[in-house]
Amino acid sequence: MSPTEQNALILPVKQGNFVVSTRPVPSPKVGEILIKVKAVSLNPIDSTIQTVGYMVEKYPAVLGMDVAGEVASIGEGVESFSKGDRVFFQTNPPIGPDYGGYQEYALAMVETVAKIPEKFTYSQAATVPLTLTTAAVGLFADAPSGAGLNPTWDPKVQYIGHSALVVGGSSSVGIFAIQLLKSLGFTHIIAYASATHTEYLKSLGATTVIDRNKVPASDLTAAVAQICGQVNIVYDAVFSSEGQAAGYEALVDNGHLLSVRATPDAYVPKDVDDVRGRKVTTAYGSPHMPNNKVFGKILYKKLGGLLEKGTIVPLRIEELPGGLESIVGGLDRLKAKSVSGKKLIVSL
Ligand SMILES: NC(=O)c1ccc[n+]([C@@H]2O[C@H](COP(=O)([O-])OP(=O)(O)OC[C@H]3O[C@@H](n4cnc5c(N)ncnc54)[C@H](OP(=O)(O)O)[C@@H]3O)[C@@H](O)[C@H]2O)c1
Repeated sequence: MSPTEQNALILPVKQGNFVVSTRPVPSPKVGEILIKVKAVSLNPIDSTIQTVGYMVEKYPAVLGMDVAGEVASIGEGVESFSKGDRVFFQTNPPIGPDYGGYQEYALAMVETVAKIPEKFTYSQAATVPLTLTTAAVGLFADAPSGAGLNPTWDPKVQYIGHSALVVGGSSSVGIFAIQLLKSLGFTHIIAYASATHTEYLKSLGATTVIDRNKVPASDLTAAVAQICGQVNIVYDAVFSSEGQAAGYEALVDNGHLLSVRATPDAYVPKDVDDVRGRKVTTAYGSPHMPNNKVFGKILYKKLGGLLEKGTIVPLRIEELPGGLESIVGGLDRLKAKSVSGKKLIVSL
């Protein structure tokens, strides 16, 4: 039996301050499962929701997008999971506080839950959902969500001879973008990141790392040209206006730039085709959004297998001791941009 009360990191009001308190343990409805949360990962979006007050309208709210845990109970109609299964999933905090990750028990919709392969820990699995989905939607999903490189995850689809630039190659989104581009057989996968991550990013599939501390974004187009001329795909994984502008200049005709965030002051036109057929699309990494639902279901069916086979490797982690209480300090570190090439994880 699950308890009736649980500890949670609660955001009591829009743009308020987080507080650790208690709230009821929810019961799963039709098509849902209740997860005993074992590990959560921290994402910059949580600080943005807190400070800007967007996306979530129901308060008190519980944030936290990435969860790994154990199935505690099962709602009506659920046949694919059993009590005790080790699973991971991307939460859906806008629906309500029962669906956020920063608490001991969270509800999940069964279509976007995957089993954790035995070789991975809860902490490793929790690094995957949001940022992998953001990379995958941008690269693989059809328009209007993404570039449509492989919407059905067909293993035969290959892009030998194609080139890509990942701006922010050492960010969580960027690391997954590199791995996905590798799985598609891209010939050149150029990461724009700090040189300290060169060996790591190459081990995941980057063919060249351009040191962002040596090569300013203003020189990035020229640096890319020296390596492979132009690129078919640019993934701006860190919302960098200068990086986007340089990437856009590096694109071939009919090339596609994906960005993690639409940026009004960016150099490039937003979500439009230009005269050379270059496209710009903002990638939204939620499998719950109407445009992404079909793609999200396919992704979650494949996810366990992709990890099992090593097509996707979880991110490197730093475990924060102290449970729910440690999350606010971790989010502050993300806000200060002092986390590099790894994911902050809290185990509960
Ligand atoms: N659209 C969506 O649905 C969605 C989903 C998830 C995240 N996001 C957004 O995507 C961005 C990345 O999120 P994340 O979780 O991947 O972040 P993260 O892992 O915390 O990113 C940290 C990394 O960003 C790199 N970086 C920062 N500024 C850079 C720049 N100007 N050029 C190149 N690299 C830079 C740093 O690289 P070095 O240390 O190597 O220098 C660092 O390793 C955030 O803005 C987040 O809000 C959007």
